[in-house]
Amino acid sequence: MLPHILARLGAISLLAVAVGGFEPNPAYPNVLRDTSAAEFTPLSWNQAYALANATVAQLTLDEKIGLVTGVGQFTSRCVGNVSPVARLGIPGLCLNDGPAGVRPTKGVTGFPPGIAAAATFSRRLMRARGVALAEEFRGKGINVLLGPAMDLMRNPKAGRGWESFGPDPYLNGEAAFETVTGIQSVGVMACAKHFIANNQEHWRYGLIAEVDDRTLHEMYYYPFLRSIEANVSSVMCSYNQFNGTSACHNAGLIGPNGLLRKDGFQGFVVSDWGATHDSAADNANAGLDMEQPGNYIVIGGGTFNSVLGIGSLKSDVNSGTVPPERLSQMVARILASWYRLGQQSGYPAVNYDAQHSDGSGPLNLNVSVRSDAHTALAREIAAASAVLLKNSAGAPGLPLTASAIKNVAIVGKDALLPNLNCGDSNQCDDGTMTIGWGSGSNSLQFTVPPSTALNQTFVAAGSVVTTSLSNDVTAGAKAAKGKDVAIVLVNAMSGELGFYQFVNGNEGDRNDLELWFNGTGLVQEVAAVCSNTIVVVHSVGPVHMPWTTHPNITAIIYAGAPGEQTGPGLVDVLLGTVNPSGRLPFSIADNETSYGTTIVTDPGFPIGFPTIQYTEKLLLDYRYMDAHAITPRFEYGFGLSYTTFHTRRLRSPPQAVRSCRGHGDSQLYLGYPSSAGEPPKVLRGFEEVPLAAGASAQVSMTVEQREMSIWDTPSQSWVRPPGMFLVYVGASSRDIRLTGSF
Ligand SMILES: *[C@@H]1O[C@H](CO)[C@@H](O)[C@H](O)[C@H]1NC(C)=O
Ligand SMILES: *[C@@H]1O[C@H](CO)[C@@H](O)[C@H](O)[C@H]1NC(C)=O
Ligand SMILES: *[C@@H]1O[C@H](CO)[C@@H](O)[C@H](O)[C@H]1NC(C)=O
Ligand SMILES: *[C@@H]1O[C@H](CO)[C@@H](O)[C@H](O)[C@H]1NC(C)=O
Ligand SMILES: *[C@@H]1O[C@H](CO)[C@@H](O)[C@H](O)[C@H]1NC(C)=O
Ligand SMILES: *[C@@H]1O[C@H](CO)[C@@H](O)[C@H](O)[C@H]1NC(C)=O
Ligand SMILES: *[C@@H]1O[C@H](CO)[C@@H](O)[C@H](O)[C@H]1NC(C)=O
Ligand SMILES: *[C@@H]1O[C@H](CO)[C@@H](O)[C@H](O)[C@H]1NC(C)=O
Repeated sequence: MLPHILARLGAISLLAVAVGGFEPNPAYPNVLRDTSAAEFTPLSWNQAYALANATVAQLTLDEKIGLVTGVGQFTSRCVGNVSPVARLGIPGLCLNDGPAGVRPTKGVTGFPPGIAAAATFSRRLMRARGVALAEEFRGKGINVLLGPAMDLMRNPKAGRGWESFGPDPYLNGEAAFETVTGIQSVGVMACAKHFIANNQEHWRYGLIAEVDDRTLHEMYYYPFLRSIEANVSSVMCSYNQFNGTSACHNAGLIGPNGLLRKDGFQGFVVSDWGATHDSAADNANAGLDMEQPGNYIVIGGGTFNSVLGIGSLKSDVNSGTVPPERLSQMVARILASWYRLGQQSGYPAVNYDAQHSDGSGPLNLNVSVRSDAHTALAREIAAASAVLLKNSAGAPGLPLTASAIKNVAIVGKDALLPNLNCGDSNQCDDGTMTIGWGSGSNSLQFTVPPSTALNQTFVAAGSVVTTSLSNDVTAGAKAAKGKDVAIVLVNAMSGELGFYQFVNGNEGDRNDLELWFNGTGLVQEVAAVCSNTIVVVHSVGPVHMPWTTHPNITAIIYAGAPGEQTGPGLVDVLLGTVNPSGRLPFSIADNETSYGTTIVTDPGFPIGFPTIQYTEKLLLDYRYMDAHAITPRFEYGFGLSYTTFHTRRLRSPPQAVRSCRGHGDSQLYLGYPSSAGEPPKVLRGFEEVPLAAGASAQVSMTVEQREMSIWDTPSQSWVRPPGMFLVYVGASSRDIRLTGSF
């Protein structure tokens, strides 16, 4: 393991004050753990390896091959399986999507995705989400949860950016640590993915990412390092090439002296589905421990069981091309991970069939793993990830008092219930957008859309509700004209390339940053006729919002990708039952050029895979904008609330402010000495500060030695540069309230 020295920065103390008051929302019971979930203490890796080694000694060659090889893309019961060894009580391990809930099956919760967890800036909710996710995976009998995803949102249009935690490596790292810890606390194996530089969908099966060593460590590798520190059970190598070699065949990444193992990774490396582009011997000798899903039909896919005829692991071991000890090591890593989390006893058997996502067929026992606690948590995260971007002073604004509203319009197809049977991974966007599409999506069996939740709320309060649940701008304006309030909902979506490509003309990655279905036109037409227009944006990432300063737009909620409890979560925020505490986990700029990166859509010449050079190095998102003096429309970390929180040193006098109970939050950014070559500011701490109205709290944050270091390529180590560091504490990356130095 890396040296992990705690170095206190001296107490960075701050005082947050709020005056006035609402009560907490009774809809959120203080339940973080389903009491039916198994309680257990993980073994140490040593204990787990002792058990694994003893078992490996009893296995035949065929049994070993079976434990490291996927059983087949169309024959597995889970998204991936390996073969059982029944005589020793080892099941055919079940690996399943995805990072936001079990799919494709029924009876599960559609949790908010990673980007929503990131927007909470709450370690508590990140961990609770991991626990709840894993309780459902366990309930379905799944051994390995294929998540969390921790690929940085290198470009805002990246198709799968919403699966992870945004463009900042520190936030990704902390969220990865909390999620892995939460998942594994209920005995489910987590899988850190996608290793590595898997940052766009176009040409992902073979693009060549070129990342310099320092950028690799400080940016893309950092969340994996934090996952290793959380004792993650497995890591998934990605489809793309890294520095010219496929990730699953890249000893520099996954080999005995590669990145993962040097930092103490003890679990197993599994291929992304079909990411084995080279021979069985190449992959196994490079460090790949498990191949999935077996017989995957994709360009260049060579597999351990040799469906495409590029060698076979068994004959490679027999001929000595792959040493027998190496095969034993592969098996031991898988079994040690299994033993460590206690899965050898009392673990539920698989009770669904991923080959029949509709729940049909004899193998689907239709077990529901939903619970009231999970629903409440999904709703809490939906509300806690909503970012209040605008709330006009003087205007009626938010929160709304429903009983005072005589008539209200709900406008936009994004308010509607979507088709819940849209393929097996939501590749439609024909209603409200709760999550992107693809294997990182979830099975939305239950969704409470905004139209239902808003309508119920206003009807119950005696308001007259008018709706125009399409993006027809004329009809939308007609519905909104003259109303006390018009709530207009718009969206943008993205997802995974592959079997899911081309949704509304977008091939995984978004084509641009515009709202879909002329959302911008709809907002503008509604705002032209209603002087109290509230805009709700559901999106997988930044979107272009040229209308934010329109005087009739009194409030804007960037509700992101909130998962199945989207409607109730939104109502909680609109009515002020919940004080908004979401913060943007990316900047929102008007133009993609403000981000300094692009999606490479050109395959290069001659036909092949493009080489993508990460020339922006450490400068993603706010780091790039700070360095180039670009002012975004809304900066990283930004988010308003209904309370004014004062962040101050202890002796400052409190001020009376408009306020209610809420979560103050504090973000800590570090400015390195200029010789370090770091961006102007880098996120290095965040803390959720629950405060009753009028209360205050002192917050301390600890910055560890590595977090004030840079990766030094010559010495291959983390080195703290000499000189003066600046400490910025504030409410966003640009709203700095306190500064200090050391
Ligand atoms: C990881 O596992 C080791 C035992 O193998 C243990 O000492 C350590 O505390 C664990 N780390 C975390 C973060 O749980
Ligand atoms: C397991 O076996 C490997 C390979 O022989 C060995 O290096 C390792 O020390 C063993 N671990 C334990 C805990 O016995
Ligand atoms: C990848 O290649 C670049 C350019 O040759 C080199 O600087 C870097 O060290 C390589 N990274 C790794 C992890 O090998
Ligand atoms: C599960 O539900 C599906 C769809 O309703 C049904 O076809 C199937 O028979 C059910 N399976 C069991 C074992 O009840
Ligand atoms: C709103 O609720 C009323 C009363 O229950 C119902 O008649 C109407 O269809 C609902 N409208 C929508 C859009 O859900
Ligand atoms: C979008 O709506 C605006 C406002 O009505 C309209 O001017 C524009 O033509 C529409 N754009 C498209 C592409 O439909
Ligand atoms: C704001 O709304 C009112 C209708 O209430 C309309 O008359 C006015 O033109 C709108 N303002 C703008 C700038 O569109
Ligand atoms: C973004 O900026 C570039 C370069 O200044 C410009 O060519 C382009 O038109 C802009 N795009 C949009 C959507 O404003």
